[in-house]
Parts: sequence; C-alpha cells; structure tokens
Amino acid sequence: MHLDPQQEDARDPLGHLRSQFVLPTHPHTGQPLIYFCGHSLGPQPLATAHLAEEFLDDWGRLAVEGHTQGTPPWVSYHETVAPGLARLVGAAEPTEVVAMNTLTVNLHLLCTSFYRPTAQRYKILTETRPFSSDTYALQSQARLHGYDPAQALVHLQPRPGEATLRTDDILDAIDRQGHEVALLLLGGVSYVTGQLFDLAAIAAAARRKGMVVGYDLAHAFGNVPLHLHDWDVDFAVWCHYKYGNSGPGAVAGAFVHARHAAFSGPRLAGWWGQRKDIRFQMGPDFEPIAGAEGWQLSNPPILGLLPLRASLALFDAAGIDTLRAKSLRLTGYFAHLLGQIPGLTIQTPADPAQRGAMLCLEIAHGGRALFDRLRNEHSIVGDWREPNVIRLTPAPLYNTFAEVHTVAQALASLLSEA
Ligand SMILES: Cc1ncc(COP(=O)(O)O)c(C=O)c1O
Repeated sequence: MHLDPQQEDARDPLGHLRSQFVLPTHPHTGQPLIYFCGHSLGPQPLATAHLAEEFLDDWGRLAVEGHTQGTPPWVSYHETVAPGLARLVGAAEPTEVVAMNTLTVNLHLLCTSFYRPTAQRYKILTETRPFSSDTYALQSQARLHGYDPAQALVHLQPRPGEATLRTDDILDAIDRQGHEVALLLLGGVSYVTGQLFDLAAIAAAARRKGMVVGYDLAHAFGNVPLHLHDWDVDFAVWCHYKYGNSGPGAVAGAFVHARHAAFSGPRLAGWWGQRKDIRFQMGPDFEPIAGAEGWQLSNPPILGLLPLRASLALFDAAGIDTLRAKSLRLTGYFAHLLGQIPGLTIQTPADPAQRGAMLCLEIAHGGRALFDRLRNEHSIVGDWREPNVIRLTPAPLYNTFAEVHTVAQALASLLSEA
C-alpha cells in the first residue's frame, strides 16, 4: 500500500479526534511518545477530567442525595452508557448490554448461567492460547461441575507451521466435535496473534450444533464492528480499558442475547440485578431485571464508569464504521512497510478482514532488546509478550499515518544493526 503519510493525515476525517486525548509524554523530556499500545491500555479522553470533577463536586455537595440528584443520578449511572455500548457491539437494544464488574468476573457470571454441561456434552471449545484469565476461569468452571479441565477444555490448533487458525478448520472442528461441546468460548481478536475470527460464521456453525456461544471481546471492542445480536451470540464479555480508552480496571461490559432476556436458569444474584421497581423493597425473593442488567450484583462504581462516558462520546463522534475504514488503511500501511523489513515476521494474518488494528511481530532473535531500544531510543510504546512477540497498534482514534511511518523506520534501522 503506497501512500503519502502527510497527505493521508491531512485528509483524515478523524484527525481532529487526536486532540481529544491526553497522550503520554516522555517522563524526562516531556516530549510526546509514539503511543502504539492502545491494545493494552488506551489513553485518557480529555473529557474524563471534567466528568471526574463534576462527580467529585456532586459527591461533596450532595453526598447520599447524589444517588438521585447527581449529574447523572448515580443510581442509574450505568444506564447512561448502555446505548453507546449497544451501538458498538451490535446489540438490538440497550437492554442486551450492561456495564458492570471486570471482564473475568463477567465471564464467571455468564458461564455460571450458560455453561450447563451434561455427561455427554461437557466440553468447552476454545482458542489455541486463550488469555490466561480465561483459561483459569474456564478450568475452574469445569471443576465446579466436577469435570477434569484437562478433559473438558479443547483447544483449537493451527496447522503445523502456521501461527493462526484457518476459519475452515474452526468450522470443521465445530462440526466434528460439536456434539460433545457445551460451550464455545472464543476471543474475538486473539490477544497474542491479533487474528480477528469470523465471528458470524463461527457463531452460526456452533449454534447449529447446539452449542452455547460466548465471546471474549477484550481485543475486539472498539476495534472492529460487531453485530452480536444478528450473529445470534448467546453472551459476550469485554473490558473497556483497551480500545475503549476508559482507564485501568475500568468497569467492563457484558452482552446477553434478547433470547435469554427472561432467563430463569441458575445465576449468581445480587440486589442490583433485582427488578428496579421492587429493588428497594428489599424483599427476600429475587426477581431479576429482564435482560443483561439482571446479572448485575452491586451498585455501579461511578469513578470506574465515568471515563467510559467520556470515551463513548468520541466513538459516537467517529462512528465505528468510519473508524474501521481508517483502521484498515492505517494498519494496512503499517503491514506494508513492515513487510519490507528483513528479519521480521508478522504473526497477524495478512488478510485485512482477519485482523483488527494490532500487529503482532515475531522476532526470531534479540526481540526483548529490540523492544527496549524502541522505547528508550525512539520513544515508541508497544508491549512485549513472552517469548518473542512485540505487539504494536496504530489506533484510528488518535494515531497518525506519519507515526506509522516513523515506527516502521525505527524498526528497520534497529533490525539492520542486529
Ligand atoms: C483477552 C483478554 N481476556 C481477559 C482479560 C482479563 O481482563 P480483566 O482483568 O478485566 O478480568 C484480558 C486482559 O487484558 C484480555 O486481554
């Protein structure tokens, strides 16, 4: 992909959004860093500080009355983000989504309801290397039902010599092993290879086989367009601190398909899941809110939610389809430049439809030292995943084509010295 980075930046319809972020600077020189680490922790939306001040002011002045008189009232604060979340994940209605807890907690809550193993059908089909927390969560869910995780967890495997999974192989595995699988739990975008799975085709195949379909969208939320309702996904969980730019430990998200709105099976319950009209009667009988909110346990943490409000306003200003269009060009340009550098292998699929914004670079030798030099000598922030992967992400909300060019040049120069 040949393009002029300066020209691209000049005509970028999203270029103005960069100024809506506080971007990190070098601790000693104060110079801006090139921040290519939004796949791990997104930068701070500028409006966060204002919302935080507003909240602190409300809390100080109103104390308990902030629950009903805060801007917005704290009792329903989480509801203010539901429409924006619904748009980003492709929910049919805001009632299919809820902002609550953290990702792993939400995974446990929804597995408790939707992983219903039987003697014939108890397995969990998952990716090659799920994120560690997902592995621990799934292992413990299997154990809770009396199954040996070594038997229960089935990992999809790439072909020998290949780093990523082929869609046909995933569909084939679903077809062959599906009758034993209770739950398919897949990351939307793999955290370690950057592969974006064909979430529509996989959900359709798995549902045809009678599996429950759950997606971990930590690396997909705010990165690629999602259509969870239309894909007929049973449930999904994600965090907001990566592409969602909502700060470390930000309140996470969950989707439960409208098919399950009146779910009456097992769940772990708390008072915030209780029907709103009777919640404060404090009665002994749990009557869940219809929809995703019924899985809430506790009252919403305002400080953990307010950056998400600031961030969602920027997603609404951009529109996920416009963001994706820029992302395809930005990451396509990055892949094109990196493809010309000897000694560097891109693990992430070359097909743009099979990746989001992030590229995972496999460095055969001296990867860690290279990574350190990128940061220390070129002020480029990415991250390192053992044993040999550097992850770098040009994020379309705030990164530029000029930065992509600079990062590729820095890598080329460092690798030529190696
Ligand atoms: C793919 C994936 N799943 C799960 C998690 C865990 O998230 P949390 O700490 O919010 O539970 C992460 C965190 O980075 C992740 O990348």
